[in-house]
Amino acid sequence: MSAVSVLGATFQNPVLLAAGTAGFGREVQDVIDLEALGGVITKAVTPEPRQGHAPPRVAEFAGGMLNAVGLANPGLATVARDHLPWAATRLRRARVIVNVAGAVVEDYARVVTELSEAPGITAFEINASCPNTSAGGLEFGAEPRSLAELVRRCRRATTRPLVVKLSPVLPDIAAMADVAKAEGADAVSVVNTIPGTLDGRLGNGIGGVSGPALLPIGVLATRRVVARTALPVIGVGGIRTASDARAYLAAGAALVAVGTAALADPRVPERIARELSHG
Ligand SMILES: Cc1cc2nc3c(=O)[nH]c(=O)nc-3n(C[C@H](O)[C@H](O)[C@H](O)COP(=O)(O)O)c2cc1C
Repeated sequence: MSAVSVLGATFQNPVLLAAGTAGFGREVQDVIDLEALGGVITKAVTPEPRQGHAPPRVAEFAGGMLNAVGLANPGLATVARDHLPWAATRLRRARVIVNVAGAVVEDYARVVTELSEAPGITAFEINASCPNTSAGGLEFGAEPRSLAELVRRCRRATTRPLVVKLSPVLPDIAAMADVAKAEGADAVSVVNTIPGTLDGRLGNGIGGVSGPALLPIGVLATRRVVARTALPVIGVGGIRTASDARAYLAAGAALVAVGTAALADPRVPERIARELSHG
């Protein structure tokens, strides 16, 4: 598998680390050869630092994992001062995509505005699965008007490419991808986690399901979004092997991202990249 040209950049291979599972790259540098990958999607960045939810934050089950991290991150200022400069100087071949989160549209706009000129960023990934506190907690991506407003505000805030990340729990994910496209999104990531609970096993009670159970869900979402929008898609959810990655690529994904499988075994993303490059 050769290099991929998308989002105004060349990715040496299509394999990325998924948002929230590799910190800002730095945190995994001793266990993952980032320069062997297409790139890394950072954990969510919010305007202020967030402690996240109470532990335990992850629970395993037969179909994958449940996590309730609660967008823990050091906040915009520290990310701009420490983490992105590290990535800009240390990563020559791997691309950096910054995942952005918030509770109101202005949170996202602030992060995108203030990081827009940061060196070494290829794109922003807008996590549209966060609860919109000004719409009663319904997630931004669940309703066309709030998704349109979110993407519009982010589009006005930067000239860098925008990737919009959607939840698989939408009645019509392709229609929502189309809404994002109409407001200037350059690409779509599918899928985020699915809400779930295993009573007593997470500090927060409710978390997001990730891992193998998401594979067929993400592949179908990829196919539908590509068919409807023709936008580049980052396929994510349940990828553990090169064959899983190929299922997304065959469905039309331009890039793929690996999350949970790399938490269990950090050699997985590099192995997938190598195997894809051998056809
Ligand atoms: C521990 C953990 C933290 C995550 N944090 C984020 C995040 O900050 N922003 C985001 O958009 N997605 C986040 N995700 C979702 C992943 O990026 C990915 O969409 C999802 O886990 C499905 O991929 P996987 O099955 O390969 O893990 C997180 C997932 C996990 C497991």
